Amino acid sequence: MARPATRTPPTPAARDAAGSEWWRTAVIYQIYPRSFADSNGDGIGDLPGITARLDALVELGVDAVWLSPFFTSPQKDAGYDVADYTDVDPLFGTLADFDALLARAHALSLKVIIDLVPNHSSSAHPWFQAALASAPGSPERARYLFRDGLGADGDVPPNNWQSVFGGPAWTRVNEADGTQAPRKAQWYLHLFDTSQPDFDWTNDEVKELFRGVLRFWLDRGVDGFRVDVAHGLAKKEGLPDWTPDPSLGMSDHQEAAPYWAQPGVHPIYRDWHEVLAEYGPDRILTGEAWVEPLSKLADWVRPDEMQQTFNFTFLETPWDGPRLKKVVDDSLAAFGGVGAPSTWVLSNHDVIRHATRLALTPPPPQGEGLGPNTKLYPDDVVGLRRARAATAFMLALPGSAYLYQGEELGLPEVIDLPDSARQDPTFFRTSGANYGRDGARVPLPWDVASPSFGFGPAGVSGPGASRDDASWLPQPATWPSYARDAQLGIPGSTLEFYREALAARRTHHLASNELVWLPSPDPAVLVFRSGAVTVIANTGATPAALPDGRVVLASGPVGTDRVPGDTTAWIVT
Ligand code: GLC
Ligand code: CA
Repeated sequence: MARPATRTPPTPAARDAAGSEWWRTAVIYQIYPRSFADSNGDGIGDLPGITARLDALVELGVDAVWLSPFFTSPQKDAGYDVADYTDVDPLFGTLADFDALLARAHALSLKVIIDLVPNHSSSAHPWFQAALASAPGSPERARYLFRDGLGADGDVPPNNWQSVFGGPAWTRVNEADGTQAPRKAQWYLHLFDTSQPDFDWTNDEVKELFRGVLRFWLDRGVDGFRVDVAHGLAKKEGLPDWTPDPSLGMSDHQEAAPYWAQPGVHPIYRDWHEVLAEYGPDRILTGEAWVEPLSKLADWVRPDEMQQTFNFTFLETPWDGPRLKKVVDDSLAAFGGVGAPSTWVLSNHDVIRHATRLALTPPPPQGEGLGPNTKLYPDDVVGLRRARAATAFMLALPGSAYLYQGEELGLPEVIDLPDSARQDPTFFRTSGANYGRDGARVPLPWDVASPSFGFGPAGVSGPGASRDDASWLPQPATWPSYARDAQLGIPGSTLEFYREALAARRTHHLASNELVWLPSPDPAVLVFRSGAVTVIANTGATPAALPDGRVVLASGPVGTDRVPGDTTAWIVT
């Protein structure tokens, strides 16, 4: 395939002319609205709750926030099932609440990115309802992927695709016109839950809908969009059968799947790039594209497509010196080759929190999650030590970094959620075989002493009390030690470690410096130089020699001349 011409990163002067290009170096903090802060005591986080807590993010030292969906939605997949793309769900507040949030964030110099969910709508979207009420072959059906079934009665799904959440990717409808049932009743495609029908992105009305959605939010002043399932919008013509080969790695799966990483996604992003450009040079698209290898993912951030894309190859790399070095080199080469910044991420709402994941070698595959029957017993102490070391390594790398709410508190994955509390459709579509992602979504602890640890005004406090009514997923009784106010100003706490890291990253321009590897006698120990800073990350168990100079950040205790295992330090010489 033809590669794009290499784009040299612009000089600082050219950048000013083009805008700040803030996203090349930004630390972007993911807010998961339902679990951040609850203002009205219904146990679910909301927009006014976020607005009231934005100061804490300034105090932390991030540049931008990304909000997971808060749009009108039946919440079958925690809001990634959108019924109205241009309104706020009453659960989270109103459009006026959103405007207030945005104004407050901008007053605090925080950029705001919102989630765009273009692969599918909710089945409650008026378009899908209209499709159900219309006949096969109608223009209403043509906005989605309706097909006739196979077999004499059409009762075999149109192809063999499986949903990401488990089970078939097709559901058969009850035709509105009873005379057609059952033989002619059609099926619709949903790569995720049955409540998330996939759009047909060859349909012009779909394209026009989303141009309008972009403009609606850009007009309100948002700084950009995180594009959900940015590798899935285009499906291979004819929707051919496809069976994943379990012996192949993820990248091979991605190459072959007729619904991932199809070339047809790129014209869509070129079109959106132009819409954003109408609003000046500083609005961005960030792709959630699970695509490997990185050299292929770089296609998403060619000069006329998105500004950024998540680096899940980095996220999925174990805490292992040689493998980390390789993924950093591959990332810088792939993204740099198209003039895009590399991005880095360790946690989000879809994966096992890295304070738990890094204690598991190997962790379960993404989506399986952890629960009482997984029979894996990650060591929280080891996990947090590695998580802090990995974070210190990540925040020293050139480019833009993503943080997920709660990682600055060192929160572990919650493993012992009762089945009755779980809400991830993955759990239900696999009959409980996969626990899914709820363990990473438990509402944040803010204050030791308050009901629901300050998540919201409802609930009870005190030893042994149940917080089930106070937060939509129960917070573990062990969480007071993680509460924000138990860590703020406490030397050595994870929160203070994050604050120091973000401040030193800024002071020493780590996000924009060039990375130069330095020799290391032990492959488990990575050493690189970034401007005046030497970074040493010891992924092994044997202590390493501490480079000369002044330690400006350490993920854990360091000796006068030794960096212990699972520890990262930044040294200024
Ligand atoms: C993305 C979201 C995830 C959601 C899925 C379907 O992967 O991050 O939470 O379930 O898309 O929209
Ligand atoms: Ca609420």
